[in-house]
Amino acid sequence: MADLRALKGMNDVLPEEAGRWRALEETFRSWMVRYHYREIRTPLLESTKLFVRAVGETTDIVEKEMYSFVHRSEEMTLRPEGTAGAARAFVEHKVFASAPVTKWFYVGPMFRAERPQRGRLRQFWQLGCEVYGDPGPACDAEMIDMLASFLLEWGVTDLDVLVNSVGGAESRAAYRERLVEYFSKFKSDLSEDSQKRLERNPLRILDSKNEKDQSLVADAPFLRDSLTEADRAHFDSVCAFLTDLGTPYRIDPRLVRGLDYYNRTTFEMKGATAELGAGSTLLGGGRYDTMLEELGAPSTPAIGFGAGMERLLIASSSRDASKPLCALFFPLGAKAAARAMVLAKEARAHGVSVEVDAREGSLKTKLRRADSLGATYAIVIGDDELAKGVGQLKTLKTHEQAECSFEAILATLKGTAAERSAS
Ligand code: HAM
Repeated sequence: MADLRALKGMNDVLPEEAGRWRALEETFRSWMVRYHYREIRTPLLESTKLFVRAVGETTDIVEKEMYSFVHRSEEMTLRPEGTAGAARAFVEHKVFASAPVTKWFYVGPMFRAERPQRGRLRQFWQLGCEVYGDPGPACDAEMIDMLASFLLEWGVTDLDVLVNSVGGAESRAAYRERLVEYFSKFKSDLSEDSQKRLERNPLRILDSKNEKDQSLVADAPFLRDSLTEADRAHFDSVCAFLTDLGTPYRIDPRLVRGLDYYNRTTFEMKGATAELGAGSTLLGGGRYDTMLEELGAPSTPAIGFGAGMERLLIASSSRDASKPLCALFFPLGAKAAARAMVLAKEARAHGVSVEVDAREGSLKTKLRRADSLGATYAIVIGDDELAKGVGQLKTLKTHEQAECSFEAILATLKGTAAERSAS
């Protein structure tokens, strides 16, 4: 078996954990409903050139982290993120022709060949959403505010909302020049990677993880000083809306994000760093107003975000929301088993969670199992009971026992299930 382990950085989610995953997904979905986003499901595999074009040739993702391969002479890649696939679907299905504004969300696994550590995996799950067709700062502020509310409801502590503007093409071209001028003075002190970045994509030096690079970045010019008037006014307006909404935010002038498609507003949200360390960034996103046009749509502004589910699960102590088992039937013998299965079938048709344990063996051991499963009731049906059309209904917590008709048992189970779903 030693050679049959899951691949490094690709985790199983066992049933004990799956309830918390579902609770997170349900919390996210409830926010998506409130803001009227609709779900999109796109393939895990896409043509490699989609990510090269959409995410950017000189990003870490495309240069180092993609699981790409050739199958029957087609180059394909396991999606490293969700924005490119959703944008491809938006363009391919000409969604732009049917509505001026489209709001989508997604939940699903993404793949990046990174060095695994806590909160950093090779297969990880993302929650995300995208809005197409609204260029305004109100749209950006509303998304940032919604995400802060979602994270607070999910139980994230020490929430830190960071926002910045990376400007449009004109602002970035001006900034690029200033950065090249600045870093060129220290070229030989830069890491090998950043020396290459200096020529190909100097903005990427700003999010270099290398310590030497970081000390040079500290004194680098700020992007905000290169913003055009229109870009600055857009960002000021985002900040003003956030203030009106009461969103707790901070401007981080160094926030550039690691993907090339962003323009204007960018944002990240972090939780308590003690728990998450390097993975404290719970979500990130921003505006990308030119991607859809580059992929073949008429000019369509866009903004979105992605959040790592594994990180959100570490960042909150929210509990498993799954409903425990309501009852176990313990029939003693084949005839009683048939009756128990019919009763269980009827209870399940009413949404009650029940199990029939018709195995041979000690009733005492089986009752212990019912306790450990957290069931509310155990129903024992022996030959005597069967003859009388009754069962012994045991309330496991109080050890009370009552002989009840099958109808009364069913009514009790249905009542308990209704109470649980109302609570
Ligand atoms: P990203 O910053 O690359 O953005 O990823 C978003 C979030 O995904 C991160 O903040 C983190 O929580 C999680 N994440 C990323 N890589 C890993 C990993 N290896 N292991 C665990 N979690 C990870 C995007 O992906 C953009 N598509 C977001 C976006 C949507 N921008 C516009 N629309």
